[in-house]
Amino acid sequence: MMSNGCNYRRRMARGVILLFCVSGLVVFSGVSHSEPQGTTAEGTYPAGQLGEVVRLGEEIVRRTSEHPLSKQYVGNSLNCTSCHLDSGRHASAGSFLGTAAAYPAWSPREQRVITLEDRALNCFMRSQNGIRPPNGSRVSVAITTYITWLSQGSKLQMNAEKPLGPNHTPQLNLEEFEPNKQRGATLYADLCAYCHGEDGFGSEDGPPVWGENSYNDGAGLSRVNKLASWLIVAMPLDDATLTTQEAIDLAAFVNDHQRPKFVLSEHLPEDAQLGEYNGKQ
Ligand code: HEC
Ligand code: HEC
Repeated sequence: MMSNGCNYRRRMARGVILLFCVSGLVVFSGVSHSEPQGTTAEGTYPAGQLGEVVRLGEEIVRRTSEHPLSKQYVGNSLNCTSCHLDSGRHASAGSFLGTAAAYPAWSPREQRVITLEDRALNCFMRSQNGIRPPNGSRVSVAITTYITWLSQGSKLQMNAEKPLGPNHTPQLNLEEFEPNKQRGATLYADLCAYCHGEDGFGSEDGPPVWGENSYNDGAGLSRVNKLASWLIVAMPLDDATLTTQEAIDLAAFVNDHQRPKFVLSEHLPEDAQLGEYNGKQ
């Protein structure tokens, strides 16, 4: 069985980290440890019930595949924080800093204007290979409350082109690069296998990168360009030093493996639970 994200975190020796939001509007500093309590210091969550829901949201983002409120909607062994590093506090690897300020946003994939809630719920169907939780459910409200808290101070600027916030993972321009899977295989064995397993199915130190317990082929990361762009800012964990060519070779190699096939109807809840699905069917 997979262990949870806390084990990975515990292995990471870290001192004081400073994350500067690109917009310059949100500055966080704090000590990162295995049980993060807040962005800046203890007690920085909002007061009262609101703070409790922010805390719950962060807990779900970190332990999505095993938290009692979210695990029923998850179909693999990933957590939101597996890709939205440091529970979305990372400055660029799937950052949630400022994200809420970009919604409602136009989504080319759904061909609809979607809310932050829709965006978070849709990640359950693809990246988490699970079922879309109902709008307004506790899990949905908690996650979006947490992301909104991480966005306080950001300028509201709805995105008319894409459902992406101001600190989304920068997309590499990969046109002049040829992906090479063979080189990717060698790099994987050298730089990645000791955490993600030689077989790619994960270990104590890293989640599965392909196979039944990884993201499905409808997920953003299943596209080579997206994965390469993410890898370059995210992996190897805490030492993201890949060159563009290496990131592309690795992305081509990783995504050349089998993973669950995405069929939308298999990821929508029964009608009574659905509310209104915000996309084309
Ligand atoms: C397998 C990796 C993966 C997992 C797991 C995952 N996501 Fe994502 N998610 C992505 C990628 C890739 C993007 C596009 C982000 C980017 O380009 O910066 C994204 C985008 C998002 C966005 C929009 C960000 C923005 O900038 O507007 C939200 C919100 C989001 N995810 C929420 C979640 C939640 C909540 C979970 C857990 C239930 C989750 N994601 C799990 C990969 C993942
Ligand atoms: C030191 C261990 C370590 C190394 C080395 C490492 N990773 Fe990761 N990787 C992780 C952890 C841990 C996560 C999940 C992040 C979290 O929970 O904080 C992750 C997440 C991922 C993810 C997204 C989630 C998933 O499982 O699909 C991908 C893809 C990935 N790594 C690919 C790579 C590649 C490619 C390399 C080699 C360049 C690499 N990693 C090197 C530990 C590592």
